Amino acid sequence: MEHIALAVIGGTGVYKLAQLDDVSSHQVETRYGTPSGPIRVGTLLGQRVAFLARHGEGHSLPPHKINYRANLAALQQIGATRVLALNTVGGITEQCGPRVLACPDQLIDYTWGRISTLSEEPGSEVLHVDFGHPYTPLLRSKVLAAAKVTGVRVHDGGCYGATQGPRLETNAEIARMRRDGCDLVGMTGMPEASLARELGLDYACLAIVANWAAGCGDGDEITMAEVLANVDAASAGLPELIGELARG
Ligand code: HPA
Repeated sequence: MEHIALAVIGGTGVYKLAQLDDVSSHQVETRYGTPSGPIRVGTLLGQRVAFLARHGEGHSLPPHKINYRANLAALQQIGATRVLALNTVGGITEQCGPRVLACPDQLIDYTWGRISTLSEEPGSEVLHVDFGHPYTPLLRSKVLAAAKVTGVRVHDGGCYGATQGPRLETNAEIARMRRDGCDLVGMTGMPEASLARELGLDYACLAIVANWAAGCGDGDEITMAEVLANVDAASAGLPELIGELARG
């Protein structure tokens, strides 16, 4: 099995990795089913990096239909041990405005009805993994170090609130999430993070703030055009950051 220095899962607006060269595509089947699409393996700034578009490359899968287990298991099967999750999110608190990149250190799960454990099937071992620190602290610190080296501004810390979607939230839901301590809101952070823990993968999140969450900005309607434009603008430094992270 090839050594993959880093696997990257792209979220809304990130359907491929810029500067990934010599790309080969892998259709991987897992015991949990089929991942969201082909895994693209290539060389990024000298490092072997794998990329998978979480919603599919044509954004055809809503958050609750993503086979999170198959995605992570497929990345593990091709040789990845470390996963950087790119998650497009809304910003709730002041320091997490549009176009900010943030590396959260906590999360709260508001999702429901998703297959959220490897223990789902009858007869499988029941796992009760430690999840006090939902993101792997060492990988988080490496993300922050890579950001520093490459001069990409990344906000250190914050709490990611994972909602069910695919609709955006009401103002009251976001007000509750703010009271709960959430800084960021997205639809795909869970069960991905806890499944990564169950699989024994190192996992960190780099959240790309695309919009103010409902009721947090000037009250304007949130549009997909705004979301995609902000993701694009905020992603400019990602290839360098990811290449540096893969190296470390
Ligand atoms: N809420 C939930 N998920 C999101 C948002 C949001 O405001 N923006 C981008 N993904």
